[in-house]
Amino acid sequence: MNKKTVFSGIQASGSLHVGNFLGAIRNWVTMQSKFNNYFCVVDLHTITIPQDPATLRAKIREVAGLLFAAGIVEDNSVVFVQSHVKAHSELAWLLNCITPMGWLQRMTQFKEKSGKQREEVSVGLFDYPVLQAADILLYDTDMVPVGEDQKQHVELCRDIAQRFNYQYGETFMLPEPHIPPVGGRVMGLSNPENKMSKSEQKQEDSIFLLDNPDLIRKKLKKATTDSLREIRFDENRPGVNNLLTIYQLFTDQNQEEIENHFEGKSYKDLKEQLAETVIESLRPLQERYYEIAGEKGYLDDMLNRGAELAGTKAESKLREVWENIGLR
Ligand code: TYM
Repeated sequence: MNKKTVFSGIQASGSLHVGNFLGAIRNWVTMQSKFNNYFCVVDLHTITIPQDPATLRAKIREVAGLLFAAGIVEDNSVVFVQSHVKAHSELAWLLNCITPMGWLQRMTQFKEKSGKQREEVSVGLFDYPVLQAADILLYDTDMVPVGEDQKQHVELCRDIAQRFNYQYGETFMLPEPHIPPVGGRVMGLSNPENKMSKSEQKQEDSIFLLDNPDLIRKKLKKATTDSLREIRFDENRPGVNNLLTIYQLFTDQNQEEIENHFEGKSYKDLKEQLAETVIESLRPLQERYYEIAGEKGYLDDMLNRGAELAGTKAESKLREVWENIGLR
């Protein structure tokens, strides 16, 4: 039986956090044996906002290393860096030529990221979703496992594919977003009204995957809660709800079990138990990451292999696109 194809991407714009892990990466790991998978470190997306070259170079490797450390394996999955496969930028250009400006103007992530500086931000930031569509469409992708914030981009990708198919004939598959029922939107610790983010400016808001145990304890101790006492899942109490959700995702218990467990306990107990749960859950990943980082040649070998496999698939799709457009 032919396996379906999964594609997903992750930026190298900061440090990966438990939101990325619970909303995306760990689902990639658990799903991978059922599919053919491509996981891409999207460095070309990362430079849509200014990056320091040395930091970017290091972060690309860190993100790739963390994917392998989390359990992505080469038997099922191809891990590669976006700029190593030239077809991504080229297809993005070709798709640019059929994507209406109005579609991109509606993207909420662009509105959020550009904020008041709409006239100052790069054309790349505006065009970001078209490059993302190119990523996905090059691989005849069936499914795109992402957190909630990427749903709109995957839907736009479908619209672009449909428009292309209509104009030039059946070329692209229409991918489906795959968003986990719990964990699709992990919120910030100090500001639980907003999602947890990679931004280094909001250190206290995120638990990064490589944070040491003391730092994790410290951040959780300071996490925003509320003035009530009862420990219950309640979306109207975003701080406590978020801590409980993170606990639920790491322990795989249901809400009732968790509420019973914390019955009569204090927020201090919740934060302390959550800290130990997170620390123990991340320990094997961190250990494996440092092993990989210390193993000379490992990452380069894996990423070269990834670029070769992804490149072969992507170039054959690109040739089909050239033909259909009339470039060849
Ligand atoms: P990025 O790098 O922001 O995030 C990587 C993945 O993590 C998910 N995520 C979260 N999930 C739950 N809670 C959070 N607080 C949280 N923050 C991030 C994201 O939804 C994502 O799945 N545009 C993409 C990268 C990309 C891509 C692609 C994704 C480029 N090309 C093609 C899929 C397919 C992004 O910036 O992800």
